[in-house]
Amino acid sequence: MADPATRLLPTVEDTEALGRELAAGLRAGDLVVLDGPLGAGKTALTRGIAAGLDVLGRVSSPTFVIARAHRAGGRGVGLVHVDAYRLAGDLDELDALDLDADLDRAVVVVEWGRGVVEHLTDRHLLVRLVREPESDVRTASWEWVRER
Ligand SMILES: Nc1ncnc2c1ncn2[C@@H]1O[C@H](COP(=O)(O)OP(=O)(O)O)[C@@H](O)[C@H]1O
Ligand SMILES: [Mg+2]
Repeated sequence: MADPATRLLPTVEDTEALGRELAAGLRAGDLVVLDGPLGAGKTALTRGIAAGLDVLGRVSSPTFVIARAHRAGGRGVGLVHVDAYRLAGDLDELDALDLDADLDRAVVVVEWGRGVVEHLTDRHLLVRLVREPESDVRTASWEWVRER
């Protein structure tokens, strides 16, 4: 498999722009796993994906809800935005979200999803967001990963 693509993200607008670009290659049934620490830009990237997919409703940090569904707009594909942080690896709670059903008609983006949701599809787009604590330099790397 090719090496992951990488990009410097100097501003939050750059992170959102990357989300819009990635959205151009996404369709219903695709799973996007966002990895990176608090404040890395996972929600900002999701906002860009939502803009690129042209879904309805504002993307916010799902602090009080685990998953938020955005209905399809112009492109006819919805978005389900999950924050798996609060799931803390609780597989029963993950099952209860019924993301399998969402994947029939939506793109599913999962913050903190690494190691938790990959089994839902046979491949996923893994986006790693890194923020250097000293310099505050931010980068993203992304690649499609196939389950075996
Ligand atoms: N290049 C950048 N990319 C993303 N966020 C940035 C960037 N520069 C500054 N920020 C700020 O960092 C914060 C990222 O927050 P958020 O997207 O909620 O992160 P996460 O969901 O990973 O916890 C926001 O306040 C945003 O404005
Ligand atoms: Mg977030």
